[in-house]
Amino acid sequence: MSAGQLSAEAVAGRAVEPGLQATGLTKSYGGVCAVNDASVTFHHGRVNALIGPNGSGKTTFFNCATGMIRPDSGQVTYRGRDITRWAPHRVAAAGIGRSFQLCRVFPRMTVLENVLVAARARSLRTLLGGAYDRELVDRARGWLARVGLDHVEALEARNLSYGQQKLLELAGVLMADPETILLDEPAGGVNPALIGRIGTLVRELNAEGKTFLIVEHNMEMVMSLSDHVVVFDRGRPIAEGPPWSVQADPRVLEAYLGV
Ligand SMILES: Nc1ncnc2c1ncn2[C@@H]1O[C@H](COP(=O)(O)OP(=O)(O)O)[C@@H](O)[C@H]1O
Ligand SMILES: [Mg+2]
Repeated sequence: MSAGQLSAEAVAGRAVEPGLQATGLTKSYGGVCAVNDASVTFHHGRVNALIGPNGSGKTTFFNCATGMIRPDSGQVTYRGRDITRWAPHRVAAAGIGRSFQLCRVFPRMTVLENVLVAARARSLRTLLGGAYDRELVDRARGWLARVGLDHVEALEARNLSYGQQKLLELAGVLMADPETILLDEPAGGVNPALIGRIGTLVRELNAEGKTFLIVEHNMEMVMSLSDHVVVFDRGRPIAEGPPWSVQADPRVLEAYLGV
């Protein structure tokens, strides 16, 4: 940034605080270095995007950051706290929620049950407990209304379109009230109308204070939604900045097109 130029955060009076941060993060599978000495900072309060060609390590980065897999080396911190190698439930309790590239819902449970189960899976006590309490059901219905699925709460999830299943998964993630939400290809396989709804939700939730980190191939969505874009290639960041600058970066075109 040149002298005298103010960032969007500075203009809006928001402090720029590091959220999820990786230093020298590395994870190999056999001979494949999926995440290769990656150092990157995603700021709190922003809609951050993580883009890059297939196989560039985006999902593996998410998995390392959320405790789903253990990195070989390197460090992950969240708002200054070292969360490297924390178990997934601890990462969730620290305020990080995530969705999966291959959407995870229970096809033969109802839409409402799916949201309730997502909330329960986070607490062994409630998992072993009896009936769902009223407050939990009310909250589940609230999030279903928010993602636009309240009218289908009694249907089995397998009857929903793929895009609706992604919204259902998001409702489940929101039940834990995460302050940071990682979305792995939210628009992948989703029809344009629902992509629009997911984008609107992200924007609204961000205005309400939630931080996002979104892996996405849909460039229109990435460019219109994000404050900051990080580009991965071969397991590490090769460029980052506001969407307009990344879009014009020759290294990004090279990574995508091999030109
Ligand atoms: N569980 C795994 N076993 C072996 N190789 C894997 C595994 N997960 C990812 N990889 C490899 O690591 C690289 C990065 O994959 P991934 O993180 O899924 O990339 P992206 O999400 O950017 O498409 C790819 O070459 C992929 O084949
Ligand atoms: Mg992926």
